[in-house]
Amino acid sequence: MNKIGNRKIVLVGTGFVGMSMAYSLLTQRGIDELVLVDVNKDKAEGEAMDLSHGLPYAANSKMVIKSGGYEECADASVIVITAGAAQKPGQTRLELTAINTQIMKGISEEIKKSGFNGVIVVASNPVDIMTYVVQKVTGLPTNQVFGSGTMLDTARLRYMIGKYLDVNPNNVHGYIMGEHGDSSFISWTNSYIGSKSLLELLDEQGKGLEDLLEIYNEVRDAAYEIIEKKHATYYGIGLSLNRLVAAILNNEDLILSVSAYQNGEYGQKGLYIGVPAIVSRDGIRDILKLPLNEVDQCKFDQSCENIEKIIKETVD
Ligand code: NAD
Ligand code: LAC
Repeated sequence: MNKIGNRKIVLVGTGFVGMSMAYSLLTQRGIDELVLVDVNKDKAEGEAMDLSHGLPYAANSKMVIKSGGYEECADASVIVITAGAAQKPGQTRLELTAINTQIMKGISEEIKKSGFNGVIVVASNPVDIMTYVVQKVTGLPTNQVFGSGTMLDTARLRYMIGKYLDVNPNNVHGYIMGEHGDSSFISWTNSYIGSKSLLELLDEQGKGLEDLLEIYNEVRDAAYEIIEKKHATYYGIGLSLNRLVAAILNNEDLILSVSAYQNGEYGQKGLYIGVPAIVSRDGIRDILKLPLNEVDQCKFDQSCENIEKIIKETVD
């Protein structure tokens, strides 16, 4: 049973990603308390002071923002984990597995000790594997622990398709699925503009599949390009996490592509990976089962295989 009533969020990791989310949370009403936790206590304290000074102009000027320790998790509704090492230029997300597994284990043990029983959202990379670690160590039910998964990749896709077809990205319905990483994929046959099939629309407009494949490649490689240019990505994921937290706190039953525990919905079991899922107060309420064609099912299976291999080699 989680304790959503008090609307308290604990953020673990006050770096670029964590603070981008924290800053954007100030645009939301209905959050009572935000606690910042970091191994670098001064950083967390400084960030809490700086954010608090903006409160008179925030959506909820009475929000309490402070730094603190893991005891703050006990009565929190949601914990967001953005702690750990980030990619350097040219590095893949999977290369962060060993270092961030150790960091996730330490954080998860502290969360467990606090008696927390709400929802945990993980964003640290490689997110599918880090979510697995956090669930295993905390022992919380799998629906209460999930990762940001391919939510950012899906946002990138919707933005790019929207621009390509000159329609609002809110009317682009399609999900990047699989690993939040190089083996992600999009099921084009399950993609729609409004309620019209994307493939049919392209056909009508005389546009070919090559453009879509180029868009997918841009989505897949976006993080590498941004990290090369500015060393980190954070605004896109900050807004994604802000949306995710709102979906939980407001019990929205919102469909988002997140890293959800697999129980055979797409033929795989026992790992976390990006799929569209219904997000509500208790975390993942259900997984949306899309009819994947043979090629897409193969891509999904391959992505799962990659994740399972790394878990066996580096985590278990
Ligand atoms: P950053 O270096 O700016 O921040 C990391 C923070 O974690 C630092 O403040 C550091 O002190 C803190 N930290 C390290 N070890 C800790 C511990 N044991 N306990 C508490 N805090 C600890 O990095 P960033 O750019 O904010 O990236 C954070 C993570 O988010 C990375 O793993 C990155 O790859 C990932 N990320 C994920 C997505 C996504 O879509 N899921 C997008 C961007 C970045
Ligand atoms: C992203 C991070 C690096 O921007 O995972 O996709």
